[in-house]
Amino acid sequence: MLSSALEVDIDEAAVAADLRELAAALDRSGYGEILTCFLPQKAQAHVWAQTAAKIDGPLRTLMELFLLGRAVPQDDLPSRIADVLPGLASAGLVQTGQGAVWLPNLILLRPMGQWLWCQRPHPSPTMYFGDDSLALVHRMVTHRGGHALDLCAGPGVQALTAALRSERVTAVEINPVAAALCRTNIAMNDLTDRMDVRLGDLYDVVRGEVFDDIVSNPPLLPVPEDVQFAFVGDGGRDGFDVSWTILDGLPEHLSDRGACRIVGCVLSDGYVPVVMNGLGDWAAKHDFDVLLTVTAHVEADRDSSFLRSMSLMSSAISGEPADRLLERYAADYAELGGSHVAFYELCARRGGGSARLADVSATKRSAEVWFV
Ligand SMILES: C[S@@+](CC[C@H](N)C(=O)[O-])C[C@H]1O[C@@H](n2cnc3c(N)ncnc32)[C@H](O)[C@@H]1O
Repeated sequence: MLSSALEVDIDEAAVAADLRELAAALDRSGYGEILTCFLPQKAQAHVWAQTAAKIDGPLRTLMELFLLGRAVPQDDLPSRIADVLPGLASAGLVQTGQGAVWLPNLILLRPMGQWLWCQRPHPSPTMYFGDDSLALVHRMVTHRGGHALDLCAGPGVQALTAALRSERVTAVEINPVAAALCRTNIAMNDLTDRMDVRLGDLYDVVRGEVFDDIVSNPPLLPVPEDVQFAFVGDGGRDGFDVSWTILDGLPEHLSDRGACRIVGCVLSDGYVPVVMNGLGDWAAKHDFDVLLTVTAHVEADRDSSFLRSMSLMSSAISGEPADRLLERYAADYAELGGSHVAFYELCARRGGGSARLADVSATKRSAEVWFV
């Protein structure tokens, strides 16, 4: 069961039928149609609230419950949804009391037509869904009929997307609560016959298995060793730690026709990511071809808004003063030659042993980093 503190597991198998019924009832209600009116990349709670205020009746109640984090009277819900509340409550997905129902820090979205329970935006999320999640979804092309692997699956948006073309999908997630939520999303989208979730550390739980597609949105932000950061985002000093581990498993786990796609960000000098030489060596050693497509180089010096927001996020977790943290970030990035952070998609396949950089970044004012 999932507690309000998001510490324990969900028993999704017990509520699979209720989840399918909820999906069907929400489809009929129009809630999914409303969700598709919002830009999917950004959680914009104020826009959701303004929109809900314009809508009357049960649809507004559904937005208040599933999107806005409000408690609503159970009697105001459509009867098909009210009927499944006991099951959802016993699984920890909703909470009830005094005739009301509310969600425990969760929201229910429908990116790319797939129902997705994930965590309400939070400074230190454990069940992450964000703009980088969709940046990877947008770039995914899994082999039809193949077996796909989603490493660092979180709530599972990429795994669910893979299931549109792949015959089988395995999702790997190290956090038990996120893994349970991923299973919940699989059940809600009625895909349990084609997907499985393994709880564990990257390739440890798929030993000896080979996949046609490997996708990952790993923890990806550059964080100095002695600085605290949300686990879902801490990619090590240059941002590439988990990506190296994923790459190192490809020779054993990627099929001959396979492709691996990873999104991430890594320190750069504003032109070349600091891992470029290392990627060349890795590609040559394993006879893989790597294409690193960079969509943005974001300034990351001590005056940058990027470093300010990184140090504020670390400060919210550790309680250390943000200005002191900012100095530690700036010193560590400078030591590694990182005046910028490059946002990229990496695609790796078996091939001739080359690593190429395709820099499509553009100068712009927008905060968007995954698209030019
Ligand atoms: C940035 S989130 C991405 C979640 C999801 N794939 C998405 O894009 O919305 C990274 C996820 O990786 C998980 N994770 C971190 N290290 C891991 C590891 N060694 N093995 C498996 N999962 C890991 C975290 O718990 C988190 O859920």
